[in-house]
Amino acid sequence: MEPFKQKITAGIITASDKGYQGQREDVSGILVSEILKKHDFEVLDYKLLPDDKSMLSNALIAMCKKGIDLIITTGGTGFSPRDITPEATLCVIERNAPGIAEAMRYNSLKITPRAMLSRGVAGIRDKTLIVNLPGSPKAVKENLEYIITNLGHGIEILKGTAFDCAAPSK
Ligand code: MTE
Repeated sequence: MEPFKQKITAGIITASDKGYQGQREDVSGILVSEILKKHDFEVLDYKLLPDDKSMLSNALIAMCKKGIDLIITTGGTGFSPRDITPEATLCVIERNAPGIAEAMRYNSLKITPRAMLSRGVAGIRDKTLIVNLPGSPKAVKENLEYIITNLGHGIEILKGTAFDCAAPSK
């Protein structure tokens, strides 16, 4: 793995009514943090929020304003009536990055056909990349570990610290 040209900062938002009410430990948020740190991202911010569109959008905007490079959300991407993370994300992104969500579903469908039930999206606001993951620790691990090695290159292009795509890493 190539080292980053500059440090890459990250924020985590867990969307979970039960977690927010203290009825469930946020195992998925902790797991996101562990995976990010293992791959040399510097985790600067973390929020555990209910499945509330404006609270989620406001938290995303606040992290973007802090200049965080990558925001990973977990939870709220399914079909439950309260699941609203993709809509909160679509409200704040300026540019769609559909390949990231496509890649996650492509890989996840090889593991479980239920991957088709995640409505997660990815996109860019200013200089921040936002990626939605499903909520279960299993889905977090399967999805984040699949995309993470390529996120750094995209973020470096976004930040203007990388330009050369001629020799893509495998
Ligand atoms: N993706 C992977 N890789 N592994 C999984 O176990 N679970 C699926 C899907 N994506 C799953 C997955 C299921 S069962 C659901 S309902 C959706 O993610 C939405 O999850 P969420 O509502 O927790 O966000």
